[in-house]
Amino acid sequence: MRGARQAGRHDGDVSDVEVRAVTAVDDALRAELLACWTDVNNAGGAVGFVPPVTAADVAPVLDRLLAGVTSGRDVLALLTVDGATAGFACLVGSSSPLRRHWGRVLRVQVHPSRQGQGLGRMLMAGVHDIACSLGWEFLQLTARGGTGVDAFYRRLGYAEHGRLPGAIRVGAGDDRDEIILVRRL
Ligand SMILES: CC(C)(COP(=O)(O)OP(=O)(O)OC[C@H]1O[C@@H](n2cnc3c(N)ncnc32)[C@H](O)[C@@H]1OP(=O)(O)O)[C@@H](O)C(=O)NCCC(=O)NCCS
Repeated sequence: MRGARQAGRHDGDVSDVEVRAVTAVDDALRAELLACWTDVNNAGGAVGFVPPVTAADVAPVLDRLLAGVTSGRDVLALLTVDGATAGFACLVGSSSPLRRHWGRVLRVQVHPSRQGQGLGRMLMAGVHDIACSLGWEFLQLTARGGTGVDAFYRRLGYAEHGRLPGAIRVGAGDDRDEIILVRRL
């Protein structure tokens, strides 16, 4: 495991905020990730679903994500505050020998109870540190159009490199662009 520890402010107190690279996920951590992802979706987060969802809806998608981690190709960036899971993101590598110098970032999320306190910025700083330690030169991710979340990434140095018009159908008659964002490391 690789980690970056920093003091951050949370609820007016100084808390111990850590982002660490996780390459093996036990049942306890899986349950925390599942609860986090379910809550994030149900609070309106744009991470693969449209609310409402249950843990049973999210579980198979989480398990596919974790299969990539278990395979050794991908790495989970785990955000904790005072040791408690507060969010995560997944760094997804490529098995192609032509694409080993960069990776994708998926499922970036901070638990709704902790959003808006600078933790998302800390999570992404940890993601960038992990990506650098893997020798990657740039990161690519996508954001759902119409959510405004691309502004979060632009603040962190990501630039738009196109969009797939209408790629995300969040409901009948509500197609959103998939915004492609890239950041050099
Ligand atoms: C997006 C997310 C990870 C940001 O985490 P956070 O802890 O709330 O963000 P921070 O408090 O670190 O904010 C950092 C900066 O980004 C801005 N920002 C955060 N979320 C934003 C949003 N949705 N839209 C626009 N700007 C946003 C903040 O205002 C802040 O700006 P500043 O630099 O001027 O202070 C979090 O809100 C989240 O989990 N959202 C739901 C899941 C989701 O949609 N993920 C994106 C998948 S592509």
